Amino acid sequence: MADKNITILAIESSCDDTGAAVIRDGVVLSNVTATQHVHEMYGGVVPELASRQHQAHIVPVVDAALKQAGVSVHDLSAVAFTKGPGLLGSLIVGVSFAKSMALALNLPLIDVHHMHAHVMAHFAERPYPDFPFLCLTISGGHTQIIRVNSPLNLEILGETMDDAAGEAFDKTGKMLGLPYPAGPVIDKLAQSGKPVFKFPEPQTEGLHFSFSGLKTSILYFLQKEMAADPEFIQKHTNDICASVQYTIVSILLNKVKQAVVTTGIKQVAIAGGVSANSEVRRRFSESASELGWKLFIPAFEYCTDNAAMIGITAYYKYLEGRFTDQTAAPEARMDIG
Ligand code: KG4
Ligand code: ZN
Repeated sequence: MADKNITILAIESSCDDTGAAVIRDGVVLSNVTATQHVHEMYGGVVPELASRQHQAHIVPVVDAALKQAGVSVHDLSAVAFTKGPGLLGSLIVGVSFAKSMALALNLPLIDVHHMHAHVMAHFAERPYPDFPFLCLTISGGHTQIIRVNSPLNLEILGETMDDAAGEAFDKTGKMLGLPYPAGPVIDKLAQSGKPVFKFPEPQTEGLHFSFSGLKTSILYFLQKEMAADPEFIQKHTNDICASVQYTIVSILLNKVKQAVVTTGIKQVAIAGGVSANSEVRRRFSESASELGWKLFIPAFEYCTDNAAMIGITAYYKYLEGRFTDQTAAPEARMDIG
């Protein structure tokens, strides 16, 4: 029987969202995120600005998370943080803050892999998936199909060989002159468009993905159409968005269908920022009812970067006694195993 009142303060600062959350016995008591809007005008995250914004946000965000949870620092059992992967200048703010707090309060420290946490976001709210389950993680930096054997045992079955699914959305947005991050904007515009333009799907081995060929075919397509009609993008933005989104979702869905067939596992979970996409949700739900899958998609606040998922993962690490110490350092690149 697990200990009771395991209270964890978790901090996330891997990219451009500063997050803090309090988790008690695996239950989310608070989940606070400060999003940085400063990057929108640059068309992508500017690492130096992200780091400075984390420094400005971290104290108020941690404070708000503790207050909303009704927890004092003296009630804490451990402090958890995102160790990587991510931007070094961003990660270092969360890592240093967590280490200082743990030192001052004499608390154990738990380091968490950001993508492991996206998978464990499925344990923020019931119903939970049973083990083993398949998890498609789709974010700005990753696209992977993972076989999740237990909370701390993850096996990567396939991953992208070049761009991530979120990058495919964001880079398309850049070509169309849309603000960063373009994923949510494309999602919205696509709702009043039709997928009338066809783009080829890449032929990749096994359960691996590739999105760079799609990016190139979109670029050539737009160059050709713009040469014939300089107002092409302006006139057809919604249909272009719907077409690109349709293709990205088809690529993801076909590989997951293949993963279900090869593993025989029919519990499918989707994680990461792109799982907020309405076409992902619609077409995966359709396939789930057609093919008898049990589908899990976290609530919106647990899809994009947040600290609750860091705290949930840390809770399972706490139960297994998997702690780190004051020598912990951020890692820009980091294996999930
Ligand atoms: O997981 P996340 O918040 O951060 C990373 O760890 O990367 O994912 C961010 C990515 C961005 O590429 C963003 O454009 C994409 O998720 N995204 C979406 C949607 N919401 C966020 N992509 C498509 N449709 C959305 N609704
Ligand atoms: Zn993420």
